[in-house]
Amino acid sequence: MKMSFLLSHAATSALFAAAIFAASLMAQPPQPVSQAGQPTSPVPEAPRSPDSVPGSRPKRNYPAPTNLKVLPKNLTGNEVHKTMETWAGSLNVHCNFCHAPDPNNLGPNGRPRLNFADDSKTEKKVARLMYTMMQQVNQDYVSKAMDMETDDMGSLVSCGTCHRGHQIPEDFVIPREEHSSPTPASH
Ligand code: HEC
Ligand code: HEC
Repeated sequence: MKMSFLLSHAATSALFAAAIFAASLMAQPPQPVSQAGQPTSPVPEAPRSPDSVPGSRPKRNYPAPTNLKVLPKNLTGNEVHKTMETWAGSLNVHCNFCHAPDPNNLGPNGRPRLNFADDSKTEKKVARLMYTMMQQVNQDYVSKAMDMETDDMGSLVSCGTCHRGHQIPEDFVIPREEHSSPTPASH
């Protein structure tokens, strides 16, 4: 059970690989991309070559998470960070959409830093529900449908499947031409 959860998480991460790769291009020289559908391994922690693009931010090591309730607890800080960038991108929001500022921890610009472990924002709680829903949909339904199909065309459900860059998914409106016939219908 635990294993399938982890595998499923890895598969879901693979869906995000393209977005993550695109983001990594902005900060780093190109790296080999994994085969489509293969889980991507975490970005290596090894020191980067010094020939990085001038002005690009140095590769950071993010602290290990302390308050994971739905993500696999063994994720490294960098893995959590990658997932978070995907969530933020899928909803087209910034980190502070879900994470509350800590008034006692001011950054160099005098503005409070976010307390990522804090659970006070409703959006963070909703995001946990959303993630749990997504895992269950993928494990109990979508992956089973994929197993039944002979082609390899399917993809697992991700935050972006529904959100598509919106905080709340937009209503789908059926295109008009599919709905109306060119000639008046005769009954
Ligand atoms: C859509 C909501 C959402 C957005 C946007 C978001 N997060 Fe999160 N974040 C969460 C949730 C939910 C958790 C807790 C996951 C869990 O319980 O397993 C979390 C956990 C974390 C943690 C781990 C905290 C700990 O110690 O346990 C870090 C660090 C973090 N987020 C950083 C970020 C950063 C950086 C961004 C912006 C790039 C970001 N988050 C954007 C919802 C969000
Ligand atoms: C099956 C479709 C679906 C998927 C997949 C999905 N969401 Fe949602 N999400 C929704 C819908 C629908 C709402 C609006 C619910 C409501 O009205 O409260 C929503 C609302 C939210 C909200 C509250 C937004 C607000 O403005 O109050 C957050 C945060 C959120 N989703 C995060 C996520 C994250 C993070 C993921 C991926 C882990 C995700 N969602 C995956 C359908 C989805």
